[in-house]
Amino acid sequence: MTSAVLETTVLVAGYVPQVDILNGVSISVAQDEIVTVVGPNGAGKSTLLKALIGLVPAKSGRVALQGLDISGLPPSAIVRHGLGYVPQRENVFETLPVEENLEIGLKPRGDLKLGPRLDAMYALFPRLFERRQQLAGNLSGGERQMLAMARALMPEPKALLLDEPTAGLAPRFVDLMFDQVASINRSGVTILMVEQNATRALAMSHRGYVLDLGRNAYEGEGPALARDPKVAELYLGGFHG
Ligand SMILES: Nc1ncnc2c1ncn2[C@@H]1O[C@H](COP(=O)(O)OP(=O)(O)O)[C@@H](O)[C@H]1O
Ligand SMILES: [Mg+2]
Repeated sequence: MTSAVLETTVLVAGYVPQVDILNGVSISVAQDEIVTVVGPNGAGKSTLLKALIGLVPAKSGRVALQGLDISGLPPSAIVRHGLGYVPQRENVFETLPVEENLEIGLKPRGDLKLGPRLDAMYALFPRLFERRQQLAGNLSGGERQMLAMARALMPEPKALLLDEPTAGLAPRFVDLMFDQVASINRSGVTILMVEQNATRALAMSHRGYVLDLGRNAYEGEGPALARDPKVAELYLGGFHG
């Protein structure tokens, strides 16, 4: 078995002591994979990503990054260990220019030089170069999502967590965003994403998981999971229009 880059083992987690949101979730992401987590609203998908990046405490179970137990570490330390995170909302500083957002993204990695990292991000997202002096709050939805991804990529993460990267985007930006996720992955970044655009996301993923009520419901290869009639009926809206 290959060792996982990201792994949760029977993870129990929640926001307050009395309520568990994740009731024993086990997922694993191997090096260079794209893995997508889908499931109904409120299933705990965002909470799972927050537990991986250290924003929600693990009550029991294990959270591991490249074999290292990271449960209990603060988010900044987890970022330094090689994990990036793009939250679904409030993922840019609106009152700051694009380039300053990127500079802030590099903060956890004082050992990296700013210039080459900015160059790498502008090569990946040429649009951000054109807009580098503009306030993040003035970007379109698609550009803002690119900035959020670039900010998270500044510290050269080994793996990236994406919470609904295509939410609220116009169709042409949805295509572009999925292309960019694939291209980031080809550059050597392992991807774990949550997506409402589930069929589409699973089709481009090596593997996928369905979460329901804070538990694992189904898992499999991405395209096979998207085609599974049971999964389609219950979770992908296949028979509901
Ligand atoms: N900050 C929070 N404090 C308390 N409960 C929360 C918080 N965020 C989410 N929840 C609850 O956790 C459950 C799972 O939410 P979430 O992980 O956001 O689901 P999903 O991303 O799958 O839609 C929901 O019942 C939600 O109300
Ligand atoms: Mg969510």
